[in-house]
Amino acid sequence: MELKRFIQELPKAELHLHIEGTFEPELMFKIANRNGIPLKYASVEELKKAYQFANLQEFLDIYYAGAGVLLYEQDFYDLAKAYFDRVHSQGVVHAEIFFDPQTHTDRGVRFETVVKGISRAMDAARNEYGFSSGLILSILRHLSEESALRTFEEAMAYKKYFIGLGLDSSELGHPPVKFRRVFERARQEGLKTMAHAGEEGPPAYVWEALTELGVDRIDHGNRSMEDDALVDELVRRRIALTVCPLSNLKLQVVKDLRNHPLKRMMERGLLVTVNSDDPAYFGGYMNENYEAIAEALDLSADELKKLALNAFTASFLPEDEKEYWKQKVHTVFQ
Ligand code: ADE
Ligand code: ZN
Repeated sequence: MELKRFIQELPKAELHLHIEGTFEPELMFKIANRNGIPLKYASVEELKKAYQFANLQEFLDIYYAGAGVLLYEQDFYDLAKAYFDRVHSQGVVHAEIFFDPQTHTDRGVRFETVVKGISRAMDAARNEYGFSSGLILSILRHLSEESALRTFEEAMAYKKYFIGLGLDSSELGHPPVKFRRVFERARQEGLKTMAHAGEEGPPAYVWEALTELGVDRIDHGNRSMEDDALVDELVRRRIALTVCPLSNLKLQVVKDLRNHPLKRMMERGLLVTVNSDDPAYFGGYMNENYEAIAEALDLSADELKKLALNAFTASFLPEDEKEYWKQKVHTVFQ
């Protein structure tokens, strides 16, 4: 109980969150019904029963099917607003949010529809809660480089909405280097960059994300721990890893949270953060992730504090806002 209250009161920043992964079954059915799109499952209960994943791909297949009911600006607004309402009540104060434009534009939904719906919810969260957020355009790595470049150039008409470029979807067989030119374009445009790497893929993919894409952060990065020289490089360059404990458990990246590398990562001096990834599918938002990993690894109050501070350090907030929130974290400890 003490632990729960403490985690609740910590001001938190979330740096690894896919907005399509916050699609709760109840809202999915509501939007599917109003858009006249049939779902493969008869009820919320049946859909939830399908949330058993042996690996990343099994999850992605269900996640993309779910996102297929989103058609209108209001749908994207409702999706994102539900996320903000939920995590505001958990003490999250800042979020850097991925969306997968190709998942929608490949179905004929206009880019503008997606961006306007999400950004209207971001504005509402700022107005209602003082919640700050940024939007990250994420490229689907199972699609071609050509599709990625086309998507990126289309996105530049809405550049003011974005803080960065990411890379997600099926990792194995789709090394970061495939998207070198898109990341080069992003850097030319002054965007921050990051890539999912080392979730299922080998340490070589994390190296590639660093050396070929020049990323500012690594999403997941678990398998970096297999390569000492890579860990040294990540530490030396202060490259943050956005780690997602419940995601790792649900996608069988770890078989048991007690074997999760998070604590060892911290002991090696890595800039590690805790995040929820796709909370509607993995059984928990930010606080549930903090609670689960704190219990499994028996994290101390100091370690939890460090994790909360790391998230602001690793965020793309302006320095004065980082400092403001870090002070607030210190205050919780007094
Ligand atoms: N898309 C949404 N969640 C993802 C994850 N954990 N890994 C890769 N792609 C994703
Ligand atoms: Zn992710």
